[in-house]
Amino acid sequence: NQARLERIESLIRTVPDFPKPGVIFRDITPLMGDPAGLGATIDELINQIPGTIDVVAGVDSRGFLFGSPIAVALGIGFVPIRKPGKLPAAVYEESFELEYGSSTLSIHQDALEPGQRVLLIDDLLATGGTLGAAARLVLREGAVLTHTETVLELSGLGGREHLARQGVESFSSLL
Ligand code: PRP
Ligand code: HPA
Repeated sequence: NQARLERIESLIRTVPDFPKPGVIFRDITPLMGDPAGLGATIDELINQIPGTIDVVAGVDSRGFLFGSPIAVALGIGFVPIRKPGKLPAAVYEESFELEYGSSTLSIHQDALEPGQRVLLIDDLLATGGTLGAAARLVLREGAVLTHTETVLELSGLGGREHLARQGVESFSSLL
């Protein structure tokens, strides 16, 4: 629905030089605060899901904002993929490269069952490091990664290619 996607896009604010000079930040808070914005975004993300899924996994922290309402709407469970030191039980960890240094994501070892079909959600794809590590965590559980979705995709940072190189072919973004 083109009109709805244009409405969603109009609710994303562009902030220059945040969090540092030269970065053009795409801010989803006006979209979250709009009476119809969040619901329309969830509907559109659900429209893109291919086939059936058993579980939604979302990436800390903005992936939680979109992943958990999708799980509620579909009547299935939600699994958080978190920054290090946040999950209390036994975890798997995967690291990825940042512009300077590296970062890590973790998932509870018992969060998913082998063969479960998982939809992986985040708000935004930039370089793809974050979603790539999250995808590896899903696969380490023996689960099936059916699709990876974001609201936004920043072009020119190679995120989609980065994901494809590590075998994640089923990526889509709303905008
Ligand atoms: C942002 C964004 C994605 C990631 C995308 O998260 O929400 O998760 O960066 O970047 P990449 O494709 O280059 O890996 P951030 O690490 O800022 O965390 P936050 O959601 O907790 O703010
Ligand atoms: N907006 C929000 N999150 C981000 C961005 C951005 O432009 N780049 C990397 N993470």
